[in-house]
Amino acid sequence: MGILEVKNVNKRFGGLQALSDVNLSIAENTVHAIIGPNGAGKSTLLNVLVGKLIPDTGSVMFDGQSVLGRKPYEINQMGISRVFQTPEIFSDLTVLENMMIPIFAKRDGAFRMHAIESVANERAVVEQAEHMLESLNMADQRHNHSASMSRGNKRRLEIGMCLSQEPRLLLLDEPTAGMARADTNNTIDLLKQIKSERDITIAIIEHDMHVVFSLAERITVLAQGTPLVEDTPDNIKGHPKVREAYLGESATA
Ligand SMILES: Nc1ncnc2c1ncn2[C@@H]1O[C@H](COP(=O)(O)OP(=O)(O)OP(=O)(O)O)[C@@H](O)[C@H]1O
Ligand SMILES: [Mg+2]
Repeated sequence: MGILEVKNVNKRFGGLQALSDVNLSIAENTVHAIIGPNGAGKSTLLNVLVGKLIPDTGSVMFDGQSVLGRKPYEINQMGISRVFQTPEIFSDLTVLENMMIPIFAKRDGAFRMHAIESVANERAVVEQAEHMLESLNMADQRHNHSASMSRGNKRRLEIGMCLSQEPRLLLLDEPTAGMARADTNNTIDLLKQIKSERDITIAIIEHDMHVVFSLAERITVLAQGTPLVEDTPDNIKGHPKVREAYLGESATA
């Protein structure tokens, strides 16, 4: 039994079957990649996993509890955090202030802007945020405005903001999309560091096979809304069904 269990999920958008009989089990403390061609349904599946999208049929259970129909803060409190495809940080705030947001949100169930403005009374939150920035090697940037950060550092900050909620499951949708190779490699190293330092399950949607094969212990290949194959990276490499999914033709023919 995995920490996340998806059973018989179907989702239709008008005439389009975006997810078709999806069954997926993600084992606790693994890095599980979901790959597949454009339009395969990967982001749709991720939206279902975080309760943002209700499927037409099926169930999604996290540690025995349904995620369906829950509000975003309830999902966070269950132990699920999600990194979005574009960084969700406030460009007017400093790196440190951004890092404090999810810590307030976890403590109070919601984030209030005035909490940031009365920082002096919030020593414990500041200390927690500073500690997280240190573990990300970002302490020297704490008073910088986040608007001036590189894409790679924005992603690093955003992953840290998710981690400060102490998730048991971290979900990432194409965390390295549009990044230069150096930033991609830094993101890979950061995710490896996170995995080695804590008990955490990571589910990652990714196009870049260098990222997938650097990190994943299990890979599910999604094509036209259906999992085609799930296996270890070694078995996925060169798998005829994977080539078929990407090339749109049978590689065995
Ligand atoms: N809200 C929506 N309304 C209608 N169709 C949608 C909606 N969201 C997604 N789709 C369609 O569902 C299919 C799956 O989309 P999805 O975004 O899940 O694919 P993806 O695998 O994440 O693709 P990409 O690799 O390009 O990010 C696509 O054909 C897309 O156009
Ligand atoms: Mg997508």
